[in-house]
Amino acid sequence: MNKTTVFDIYKRILTLLLAVFACFMCACAFVEEPQGGRDSVVVPSATHKPMPTVAPTAEPTPNITPEPTVEPTPEVTVDPMNAGSVGTPGDMVPFEGEKLIALTFDDGPYGTVTNRILDVVEKYAEHGVHVTFFALGSQVDKYPNTVKRAVQLGCEIGNHTYDHKNLTKISEDEIKNQIQSGVNAIDNACGKRPRLVRPPYGAKNDTVYATVPNPLILWSIDTLDWKTRDADSTFEETLKAKDGDIVLMHDVRECTADAVERIIPALLEQGYKLVTVSEMFEAKGLKLSSGKAYRQAK
Ligand code: NI
Repeated sequence: MNKTTVFDIYKRILTLLLAVFACFMCACAFVEEPQGGRDSVVVPSATHKPMPTVAPTAEPTPNITPEPTVEPTPEVTVDPMNAGSVGTPGDMVPFEGEKLIALTFDDGPYGTVTNRILDVVEKYAEHGVHVTFFALGSQVDKYPNTVKRAVQLGCEIGNHTYDHKNLTKISEDEIKNQIQSGVNAIDNACGKRPRLVRPPYGAKNDTVYATVPNPLILWSIDTLDWKTRDADSTFEETLKAKDGDIVLMHDVRECTADAVERIIPALLEQGYKLVTVSEMFEAKGLKLSSGKAYRQAK
């Protein structure tokens, strides 16, 4: 073998090795290509980077999701709920088309009698029973807790002046003083100012109309309980009441409380709702104005 032949053999082997290496590299390139080469390794990592950007785009999604779920909630459930059961408009709904009577009690509060009447109101609270007390300021000063209890039970406190003066027989200043002293006593007792006035003896004239800054509430059924002092008679007179009537009683004698224990269940049995004077006029859509007197809500 000469040097040239040996060199040729090395040269061929080297060429073969290079060819094999080249083939191997090509093969590797083809094998890696489906997975992506070095460049395409960046692509997957780039497609992993969008994942975090998907995650941020997933964040707005929760932001968007709560909004629609929050918005329908008030639209679908809260508004109808409010309309049906909460607040003054909702409270008025049960009175629609109902027969209403307002039981009213003058000259109190008077310890046991007023509280016995409130016991009956409380007993039938589930029927929404409310009554109205036209209280004397001088009595309110003696029994402030009874007034508070009445208000807590949903009853109305009206002003019957401070100490039962006939407003047609006193001066304008005295009228103002009687009304304002009554307001102060009630406000001190329960933190609420009365919006209605019942003049003692139902007495009124042009001066009273012009001076008293509240609607004057009279009555359409007079039980004369103060005169008869008879529970049966008070019961029978009250049961003559019809829709829109205002019944006059006095919470100063036990016999009136005796009558009320029978009156309230009997009127409920007849399908009446027992409401305050203000509730009755509001339910009937009748506006109460100062300078006017009202006997009934009809
Ligand atoms: Ni009176």
